[in-house]
Amino acid sequence: MATTSENVRSNLPPRASVSAAADQSQPGEQLDTKTVGQVTVANPVMTARKVNVHYGDKHAIKDVSIDIASNAVIAFIGPSGCGKSTFLRCLNRMNDTIDSARVTGHIALEGQDIYDKRQDVVQLRARVGMVFQKPNPFPKSIFENIAYGPRIHGLAANRADLDEIVQTSLQKAGLWEEVKDRLDHPGTSLSGGQQQRLCIARAIAVDPEVILMDEPCSALDPIATARIEDLIDELRQSYSIVIVTHNMQQAARVSQRTAYFHLGDLIEVGATDVIFTNPRHKLTEDYITGRFG
Ligand SMILES: Nc1ncnc2c1ncn2[C@@H]1O[C@H](COP(=O)(O)OP(=O)(O)OP(=O)(O)O)[C@@H](O)[C@H]1O
Ligand SMILES: [Mg+2]
Repeated sequence: MATTSENVRSNLPPRASVSAAADQSQPGEQLDTKTVGQVTVANPVMTARKVNVHYGDKHAIKDVSIDIASNAVIAFIGPSGCGKSTFLRCLNRMNDTIDSARVTGHIALEGQDIYDKRQDVVQLRARVGMVFQKPNPFPKSIFENIAYGPRIHGLAANRADLDEIVQTSLQKAGLWEEVKDRLDHPGTSLSGGQQQRLCIARAIAVDPEVILMDEPCSALDPIATARIEDLIDELRQSYSIVIVTHNMQQAARVSQRTAYFHLGDLIEVGATDVIFTNPRHKLTEDYITGRFG
């Protein structure tokens, strides 16, 4: 079945009731959800309520409700195939690009329904940027990789503005010193770790509020991984970050909250140190102790 924004919208719950529930919720308060732990936070940048995703007959995400806190890192963990990437893609409507995917429920960015028919999806994906598992620079120069987004979004009034955005974005991604003398070289001429920082700089260049990262270090060596982890820690001063990772140590190192997914259910969410030292759900415990997955 094709995904259309029509059938997504027709399945949305009435906006007012969901917004009211979200607004009144306090950290630690349980919504009407099966998830164990602290689903809501005091300062959410995004809220997801009763989100379901089907690929044809496959029910990949089941009634997931969760807040994404501002200026913090949340890690999504869980066994392969449990829906982490699927749920991540709901947050910037990347599932719209998958014909068989059907998303229902309510997801808001700064209180605004991102599945609303007035939502410009290109704009949304600038505000909620994405970094993928495999670095995917455009087949263009380093400069153009960064300049492309600001140019199409009209963020630079002139060439000096654009130069400034390119430099600042590369600096924030910790790549400027390595590439400042070869901005006209192809993005693909960089090492894997540099390419991933280029992709992070590309996301930063269009001034996002949220950056989604789907296993951003899985193609990188330990040194490049450590650089990205340090970078994630710096970036949370300015952005809200959602990272999917299979690496428990990485989740523990970079995130303040962790969410455990299992077969499409959000089983447990809470402070990362609590999830890793004192999980409340048996499934979470089995996974983090290596008995499952
Ligand atoms: N494009 C698709 N079409 C059909 N089914 C899909 C599609 N993408 C994912 N699925 C199915 O949805 C379920 C969740 O997949 P998803 O990729 O979200 O899991 P994941 O937790 O990210 O796994 P991994 O850790 O292996 O990346 C799986 O059963 C998968 O087979
Ligand atoms: Mg995945």
